[in-house]
Amino acid sequence: MKPAATVDRSFSFKRATLILSSFLLVTIICVLSSMNEIQLQNLVDIGRSSFIFRKGESQPPPTLRLLIGIMTRADLYRRRDLLRLVYGVQSPSNAQVDVKFVLCSLTKEDQKVLVALEIMRYNDIIILNCTENMNNGKTYTYFSSLPEILDRTDGEDRPYDYVMKADDDVYFRLDRLVDNLISLPREDMYYGFVIPCREMNPIGRYMSGMGYALSWDLVEWIRSSDVAKNHVAGTEDKLVGEWLHKGNRGKNRYNAKPAMYNYPAGSDPCAHGFVPDTVAVHRLKDQEKWIRTLKYFNVTDQLKPSKMYHIP
Ligand SMILES: *[C@@H]1O[C@H](CO)[C@@H](O)[C@H](O)[C@H]1NC(C)=O
Ligand SMILES: *[C@@H]1O[C@H](CO)[C@@H](O)[C@H](O)[C@H]1NC(C)=O
Repeated sequence: MKPAATVDRSFSFKRATLILSSFLLVTIICVLSSMNEIQLQNLVDIGRSSFIFRKGESQPPPTLRLLIGIMTRADLYRRRDLLRLVYGVQSPSNAQVDVKFVLCSLTKEDQKVLVALEIMRYNDIIILNCTENMNNGKTYTYFSSLPEILDRTDGEDRPYDYVMKADDDVYFRLDRLVDNLISLPREDMYYGFVIPCREMNPIGRYMSGMGYALSWDLVEWIRSSDVAKNHVAGTEDKLVGEWLHKGNRGKNRYNAKPAMYNYPAGSDPCAHGFVPDTVAVHRLKDQEKWIRTLKYFNVTDQLKPSKMYHIP
């Protein structure tokens, strides 16, 4: 009987092993297939969200955020109207470019009404605590006030990648400007048209007030630096170059010549004729110069046909 019992026991042992291993196998298969389901779900989710981005229901964040502060005076209403037109029709893809007019404190009663109306209508004006005098510190006030003015509460670490200071007689082509900036370092960056006119090397120089950009870290540095605070009056854009030099900042520099230049006039060494890849044209002092410039760059080519008008 013993052997039979042994056979019996070993048989039931084998059967138990078989059952157990089958159970294990089924469990493993279940686990694997549920994992696959999760992974599959992830893939589906990823596919769905990229589909949403493509459909434009939820925009991906812009790859570049730029603030352009145009230095102007409260009374120059018609200039702001023109600039709102020429920047309002430009929308460079994948970038957020905010154009704001930068004024010093209002001084006349009519300004307090008209500028307030503009702000209600366009919300594109920054009024600094300063007085409109050439070379009296508006540039310092502009950069050093921005971190507080633009203080963010939504958790983003910096409001813009670059901040630009620009004249009100310069025409920037925003898509070209974004093309330039997008591949440049986002830290310790100083971008513009190097002075003097014929100089190509930006090291140890400064950028023309026609329009230059600083990376956000440099704006914060200007706010906190004694080098800047103790030296605010003088040729303002030259001072920016001196602050950076004394503070050992702005190691990354980009000279945008020949894509930035003055409108051709007389023997101006900073001027040359229009070029197709232009980033900015400066010294647009009258309407005729603006019109010639806007015509050269075909800015009205995108006008949609309509029965309501015919512009030959
Ligand atoms: C503006 O600046 C002046 C002089 O620096 C200061 O006395 C005044 O309190 C400032 N005004 C505001 C509203 O910050
Ligand atoms: C403007 O349009 C004309 C005619 O289509 C073209 O020849 C010229 O290259 C365009 N200019 C620029 C700057 O794109």
